[in-house]
Amino acid sequence: MDQSRLKGKNILITGAAKGMGAANAIHFAEQGANVCIGDIDEAGAQETAEAINARGNGRAIAVRMDVTKRADNAAAVAATVEAFGEINVGLFNAGLNKPRFFMDIDEDNWDMIMTVNTKAMWLGMQETARQMIKQGKRDYPYKIVNVGSIASRKPLVDVTVYCTSKYGCLALTHCGAVALAEHGITVNGYAPGVVVTPLWEQLDKDLIDIGFKEREGQAYEDIVRDALQIKRVSYPDDVKGTAAFLVSSDSDYMTGQMIHIDGGWCIQ
Ligand SMILES: NC(=O)c1ccc[n+]([C@@H]2O[C@H](COP(=O)([O-])OP(=O)(O)OC[C@H]3O[C@@H](n4cnc5c(N)ncnc54)[C@H](O)[C@@H]3O)[C@@H](O)[C@H]2O)c1
Repeated sequence: MDQSRLKGKNILITGAAKGMGAANAIHFAEQGANVCIGDIDEAGAQETAEAINARGNGRAIAVRMDVTKRADNAAAVAATVEAFGEINVGLFNAGLNKPRFFMDIDEDNWDMIMTVNTKAMWLGMQETARQMIKQGKRDYPYKIVNVGSIASRKPLVDVTVYCTSKYGCLALTHCGAVALAEHGITVNGYAPGVVVTPLWEQLDKDLIDIGFKEREGQAYEDIVRDALQIKRVSYPDDVKGTAAFLVSSDSDYMTGQMIHIDGGWCIQ
C-alpha cells in the first residue's frame, strides 16, 4: 500500500463510528489522509479516531454530529478545517434502513429514512461545498463522495423508502456534479450491494419481523443465489479500495458517477 497516496487530503466522513465508514476512514488514514470522523455515536467515533491515531500516518479527530442538523454539518466542516487547515473531501456515508412493504409505509418510516439518507446528504454537501468555495479553486478538484446503494437503481419491494432515499442520493450526485463543477468540486459516489455491517445485521432481523424472510441469514442466501454474479456477500474491505480511489487524485477527471460495488447485482 502506498502510505502517501492520500497525503494532503483532509476528509470529513460521516457515519464512520462503525461499518463501512469506519473501515474507509482507517484505510484512508493508512494512506496518509487526515480524517474527521462525524457520527451521532460519539463513543464509536472516538474509538475509530483512536484506532487511527494509534497507528500513526494520517491523523483523526472525532466529532459528535447528527447529520440531519444543518448546524452539526457546519460544525463538523469547521472542526475539520480547524484541525487540519482546510477541507478537501466530504464523504457522506451515514445512513440507515427500516424495511416496510409499500402499503405499510407510514409517515414516521418515510421521514426517518428520507431525512437521514437524503436530506442529510444534501445538507452535508452544501455545507462542505460552502467551505470549499471559500477556500478558492485549486489546480486539482475538491471532492464530494456520496454513498448510494444497489437501492439507488433497483426497485426492491421490501425497502421502498430506502430505495427512494438512495435514488435521491444518485440525483444529488448528478445535480451536485453539474452545480459545483464551476467551483472546482467533483461529485461522485459508490453503491454497495450486501455488505456485512451492523446495518445489515439489523436489517436481517427486521426482514423477519415484516414477514419477508423466515429466518436469520435467509436474505443473504436468497440474494447471493438469485441476484449476484459473484457468489458471496461482501464486507467493508471489499468496498474500501473503490472509496479510496474516489477520494484520491486518480479520479480527478470523473464527476457525476456512481460506481456499483455489488457483486454484479445491478446488471441482473
Ligand atoms: N450494509 C449494506 O449492505 C449497505 C449496502 C448499500 C449501501 N449501504 C449504505 O452504506 C452506508 C454505510 O452503511 P453501513 O452498512 O456501514 O451502516 P452502519 O449502520 O454500520 O453504520 C452507519 C453509521 O451511520 C451513523 N448514523 C446513523 N444515523 C446518523 C445520524 N443521524 N447522524 C450521524 N450519524 C448517523 C451510525 O451511528 C453508524 O455509525 C449507508 O449510507 C448505507 O445506506 C449499506
